Amino acid sequence: MNSKVIILIGMMGSGKSTIGKILSKDLNIDFLDSDEIIERLEKQKITNIINSKGEEAFRELETKILKDLNNFLINPKDFVLATGGGMVLREENRNILKNLGKVFWLDLSAEKIFENLSEANDRPLLGDKENRLNTIKSLCKIRQEFYEACSDFKINVEDMNHSRIIHEIINKL
Ligand code: S3P
Repeated sequence: MNSKVIILIGMMGSGKSTIGKILSKDLNIDFLDSDEIIERLEKQKITNIINSKGEEAFRELETKILKDLNNFLINPKDFVLATGGGMVLREENRNILKNLGKVFWLDLSAEKIFENLSEANDRPLLGDKENRLNTIKSLCKIRQEFYEACSDFKINVEDMNHSRIIHEIINKL
């Protein structure tokens, strides 16, 4: 049987973790979430890590767990990985992701991301709520090329419900 390694990338609030969980259940394969692994290993919330040690230290942890991914997997041939929104910033990470499996970019507008994250207070990089939409817009602008470079498929999830997104992904496996 063909192996199924599905990597989900994209901005915060694009639904990577939610979609990843449903997808892994539907396909009966493992689900990994890079943020969850980091929180488990570091025994603290991402917000604390970024606020106390800085973004660079957090990025270092992201690279480390990507390199050690096999330690967190029962079956390294079939799994879904939901990545943190900034995982693609490092070229090293992009190369690892591309070599792991099929990379899906869940793309949506800054306005929709803003809407999805309106209640969120666990994303330290978004800063205060007054400037949030502008912060999201500039992050999207900076990251666009990295999501583009890393992905095999871009899925515009703007007006799609979960089952449609899952269907789109499964169709491309
Ligand atoms: C980040 C996204 C977050 C988390 C951290 C940084 C980012 O993950 O890794 O707060 O730089 O976009 P989600 O994309 O799962 O929200």
